[in-house]
Amino acid sequence: MRPNFRLTRQTNKAKMGCSTTAADCRKIVAMPLITFEGAEGCGKSTQVNRLAARLEKERIKPLVLREPGGTAIGEAIRHLLQHSEENHGMTAETELLLFEASRSQLVREKIQPALARGEWVICDRFFDSTTVYQGAARNLDPKVVKSLNAFAVGDHVPDLTFVLDIDRGTAQSRLGNRTKIRDRLEEESDAFHMRVIQAYRDLAKNESKRVVQIDGRLSPDAIEQQAWHQLVNRFPVLAGNRFSKISRQSS
Ligand code: TMP
Repeated sequence: MRPNFRLTRQTNKAKMGCSTTAADCRKIVAMPLITFEGAEGCGKSTQVNRLAARLEKERIKPLVLREPGGTAIGEAIRHLLQHSEENHGMTAETELLLFEASRSQLVREKIQPALARGEWVICDRFFDSTTVYQGAARNLDPKVVKSLNAFAVGDHVPDLTFVLDIDRGTAQSRLGNRTKIRDRLEEESDAFHMRVIQAYRDLAKNESKRVVQIDGRLSPDAIEQQAWHQLVNRFPVLAGNRFSKISRQSS
């Protein structure tokens, strides 16, 4: 039988750390939305796949998505943002709006219906990427970024966000070993990427309830284990079976 993972989700404003009113503290019932974040080369996509596989072993089949992308419209926007020939003169404002457009589509076409069906959702990047890349690294007005993020996601603020922290040197050596063609954002300056790394660290500090930072230089196994521990802490029903046996054996 599929375990019952229902939990309460705070409203958008409450989880995004805005000033709360009594209405904001209202809780709605929803399934977990989990996101992975970090600078290029931090290993988040590997961890997204590992977490999905681990949940499947617990008989939970999560919906795995990515940003930008995850829908036909979103994937076309992804191409425009990253590799298209037309993107060379793209302004920071256009870039911001395109990421939000992809996100609005993803939330309404995929995330909202999946959560309503009672599925877990794991997303490779979400609005924290916009806060960090367009807000901090591109230096766009943080108030505008915050309100566009809220407009795009509605009540769908992640229940748990993992930031894989990595230093620029490690990221560069990992990216250097990749064969894929670098995209427009990967081609940005070192200073840009250093701002991204710092902004993720600030985010984890400022939103420590929702955002968990893990050292991205650790082995993939060690990162997976830490992420799983965090998940079990928040969703104790996961600890009911295999995981608790493993942790008892290893202690
Ligand atoms: P990736 O998912 O393969 O890491 O590529 C996505 C790229 O887009 C990455 O450079 C981060 C960037 N990005 C933003 O700048 N803002 C956003 O809101 C999102 C979702 C991604």
